[in-house]
Amino acid sequence: MAGLYWKPIEGLQVAMDGPSGSGKGTVARLVGEELGLPVLDTGLLYRFAGWQTAETDVDMMDEQTVLQVLQAVLPKMDWRAEGIFFESKDCTSLLRGEDVGSLASQVAHYPKVRGLLLDVQRDIALSGCVMDGRDIGTVVLPDAQAKFFLTASQRERARRRWAQLHVKDKELSIEQVADELMARDERDAGRDCAPLERAKEAIQIDSTIMRVDEVVDRILAVLERRDLIYAV
Ligand code: DC
Repeated sequence: MAGLYWKPIEGLQVAMDGPSGSGKGTVARLVGEELGLPVLDTGLLYRFAGWQTAETDVDMMDEQTVLQVLQAVLPKMDWRAEGIFFESKDCTSLLRGEDVGSLASQVAHYPKVRGLLLDVQRDIALSGCVMDGRDIGTVVLPDAQAKFFLTASQRERARRRWAQLHVKDKELSIEQVADELMARDERDAGRDCAPLERAKEAIQIDSTIMRVDEVVDRILAVLERRDLIYAV
């Protein structure tokens, strides 16, 4: 499948959800590259929200305060397929750490925060994209033409995250990553508002023992079968 030149139908929206370490980010990027569609990582947006709230040093337990911080900083933020820019500076790499992931998960359970970020996500998705996150198929883009839900065993997800993070932090153990991942999964799946959940029409792919290119090929095959993409 990969290697052919694909063209998506106009305005194609592909929703890609799953827990941390399920491979959805990598798969979304590769599918987007194959189709020439922008890839939008909504986790980055929540990471920005968590990071800015922590930077402002306000009470993270107070939803209204967190909301006010975000209302003030969002106009100075530019979210693109390449990453997140704040006050014209690329802050994407700063947002990738596990500590920021945890801050993101903490502010992500506030309904008002999610409401604010929902509009940002829907606006940017209008002309077509591959969008990855936790609630894309269920809440953000309920009318997306294709929805996928990626999973992998907890051990494998921790190993993948560890391999990414270990490059920068040699002290980090796989057990530490597994504990943090589990806490984050529980928070993300257990919250009342837009929890991590598979849309009923989403195709579930367990990537535990699949190579990335196999997952990408499977997704492209589904899109082609449904006449959402065509070879040129
Ligand atoms: O995908 P990620 O690990 O970069 O996401 C960071 C956190 O942001 C994740 O733990 C939960 C939250 N998040 C969310 O609640 N909804 C999304 N659509 C994306 C991320």
